[in-house]
Amino acid sequence: MAKTRVAMTVNGKAVEELVEPRTLLIHFLREQLNLTGPHIGCDTSHCGVQANGADIRTIEGMAAADGTLHALQEGFREMHGLQCGFCTPGMIVRAYRLLQENKSPSEEDIRFGISGNLCRCTGYQNIVKAIQHAAARINGVPLQEAAE
Ligand code: FES
Repeated sequence: MAKTRVAMTVNGKAVEELVEPRTLLIHFLREQLNLTGPHIGCDTSHCGVQANGADIRTIEGMAAADGTLHALQEGFREMHGLQCGFCTPGMIVRAYRLLQENKSPSEEDIRFGISGNLCRCTGYQNIVKAIQHAAARINGVPLQEAAE
């Protein structure tokens, strides 16, 4: 099959590769770039996005270069926002985007914001607390204030 060239930024680095036109972003990330933090949510291949030219962030791009965890990663650790961890990379990158869109989300905003990501373990309460913890840390306010 003829390949097509795609170019994008992944975790701050420019990437340019040849891919088959049918390639899903998840397979490109996992198999061509060896970024296995993103997990395959389903195998139906009914959805997808055109990622050429996109700026993509995966869990591998969340921590600082020196290994310092992002506030969201700290939040999940501090607030016990994970159990098996399967959903965690997706939850964290979704929460990252959510906090870019809304620096001080309410509990309802957070629950709606992560509603496209499923967790089979936690019941979501500690995920919400983890995101509130991160928002508070990023905004430099006490956790109680961020959770209101
Ligand atoms: S922690 Fe197991 S699926 Fe979310």
